[in-house]
Amino acid sequence: MLEGLGDLARSEALAVASRHGVDGVVVLVADPTRLVLRWPGPVTPLLTLRTAVAVSRVLTFAVPRPRALLGDATLRVLSAAVADVVAASPPGTYQGLRLGMAGRDSSVARRLADTVAAAVGLVADDDGELLLRVRPSAAGPASGGAPPEPPGWDVLVRLSPRPLATRPWRVVDRRGALNATIAAAMVQLSSPAPAQRVVNLCCGTGTLAIERLAVGPVASMVALDSDIDALDQAGRNIAAAALAGPVARVRADAGAAPFPAATADVILTDPPWGTSVGDHTENRDLYPRLVAEAARLLRPGGRLVLVSHEVRLTDRVLADTAAWWRVDDVRRVFQKGHHPRVHVLTRR
Ligand SMILES: C[S@@+](CC[C@H](N)C(=O)[O-])C[C@H]1O[C@@H](n2cnc3c(N)ncnc32)[C@H](O)[C@@H]1O
Repeated sequence: MLEGLGDLARSEALAVASRHGVDGVVVLVADPTRLVLRWPGPVTPLLTLRTAVAVSRVLTFAVPRPRALLGDATLRVLSAAVADVVAASPPGTYQGLRLGMAGRDSSVARRLADTVAAAVGLVADDDGELLLRVRPSAAGPASGGAPPEPPGWDVLVRLSPRPLATRPWRVVDRRGALNATIAAAMVQLSSPAPAQRVVNLCCGTGTLAIERLAVGPVASMVALDSDIDALDQAGRNIAAAALAGPVARVRADAGAAPFPAATADVILTDPPWGTSVGDHTENRDLYPRLVAEAARLLRPGGRLVLVSHEVRLTDRVLADTAAWWRVDDVRRVFQKGHHPRVHVLTRR
């Protein structure tokens, strides 16, 4: 899970469970980067999660060190779990098995990867699609004054050949494109509903517009950007996604959108961060204009969800325009070495 999105992944997982009739789900661990569930049902519905980076099956072994994972009984359990994952995908999806663990060049790690891979007809490969991660499990609880349970080791078997954050619709990438998991989280924070008129300002490759339409229909969706190449790239991603409605792509300045006032229910925006896209000087001009334009376009009660790494500039602009907004949420997330903030604001 991406830092800052744990609560959203948890509520999405519980919503998936109820949609698919999976009863008795238990949240075992929910910390900033991990959500561990007891999931008494088929795992395929979990692969529809949009706010989780990846879904893995966790196997816990009460062994003191990774070398003990090479025992026959453990290897049989591990190989069976990996074989289940391979069998659940079309033939040829998996060719290689990749091991992620501290000391993965050690002889123990190499033997583990080679043995499990061979048992399921794969080869051990640093680029393998099937990812096994080995890590110490959390210490068990102490009881009755006894010392904590010995921690043991977890083996995580990823259930998809690529991270879920790698969306099949992304046929065109571009520097500065938003992580789709963050976009999905922003969509969830916008409280999506079918009758909404949604505008995606500074749409770039269309990530926010696509993620919004992926969770359900809207009354209208506009993706706006000043860059014709970005709009073309958004068009290609939109075409590759089987979306629940059309997207009107509009070339315009985000500070002067060609729409009447109070005609949007939701605005999703990822303006330039001044790192890989745009620069800080231009942003000092753009951000106040964009926020003013969002305030003009939104009806009272409408929502602005904005992500940016321009932390101080965003705070200043929102403080200057505080009379327009009720602040519903501000959270720090993580994307490729950056810690942008997501702001959720309601137009007063
Ligand atoms: C951080 S990128 C958006 C990335 C997008 N979320 C994606 O996933 O591809 C910022 C976008 O703002 C656009 N932009 C910059 N200045 C703009 C302006 N004044 N009006 C509209 N769009 C602008 C850029 O062309 C760029 O596509």
